[in-house]
Amino acid sequence: MAGFKTPAFRIAVVVGSNRRESVNRKLAEALAKLGSAEAEYRLVRIDDLPLYNQDDEGNLPASVVRFKAEIEAADGVLFVTPEHSRSIPAVLKNAIDWGARPWGRNSWTGKVAAVTGTSPGAISTALAQQHLRQILGAQGVVLAGGEAYLQFKPDLIDENGAVTEEGTRAFLKGFLDQFTALVARFVQPSKVAA
Ligand SMILES: Cc1cc2nc3c(=O)[nH]c(=O)nc-3n(C[C@H](O)[C@H](O)[C@H](O)COP(=O)(O)O)c2cc1C
Repeated sequence: MAGFKTPAFRIAVVVGSNRRESVNRKLAEALAKLGSAEAEYRLVRIDDLPLYNQDDEGNLPASVVRFKAEIEAADGVLFVTPEHSRSIPAVLKNAIDWGARPWGRNSWTGKVAAVTGTSPGAISTALAQQHLRQILGAQGVVLAGGEAYLQFKPDLIDENGAVTEEGTRAFLKGFLDQFTALVARFVQPSKVAA
């Protein structure tokens, strides 16, 4: 289409792990590289958020203010999460709760999001992803279709941070393309016009 140029969507990447050697953070960084032609992917910290306490809503901690602003500035959110006890890790639920509060200032409402994650287990993060979809749906998040359950193996991502296996790489690129196509339908028309 004449005058059309690829929009620089801003995607906030939320990793559901606070572990230093998180395999999900490695996967998130690999996904950011894979999808970087269509969008700008930025990791958003959640490990510095205090444990949610409604008493703090009147005077939000600085890390919470920063986190909410980063989510609100993004056109889409990519969640890359491990599974803990067949659900999402507490650190991720904590971040979602801060994002949802205070009442009337929900940072998630209307965001487009995609969900993926990896774990060494045979069914990978299937149940955590299902719970996450349920939680986000209740917050008014528009969820991208498609599923990406990745069983973590040490050679999934190489030393340069790239997905090693060609078929897996192509599958994940398709997953990201589907996500950014949905984001494109929700961003303001002024952003996609030349
Ligand atoms: C408290 C806890 C609970 C876990 N529960 C599950 C689980 O239900 N399903 C699963 O596949 N892996 C489970 N695991 C294993 C994690 O998937 C594994 O530790 C993975 O490396 C975590 O991802 P990360 O490296 O990005 O933190 C659990 C790990 C922990 C520490």
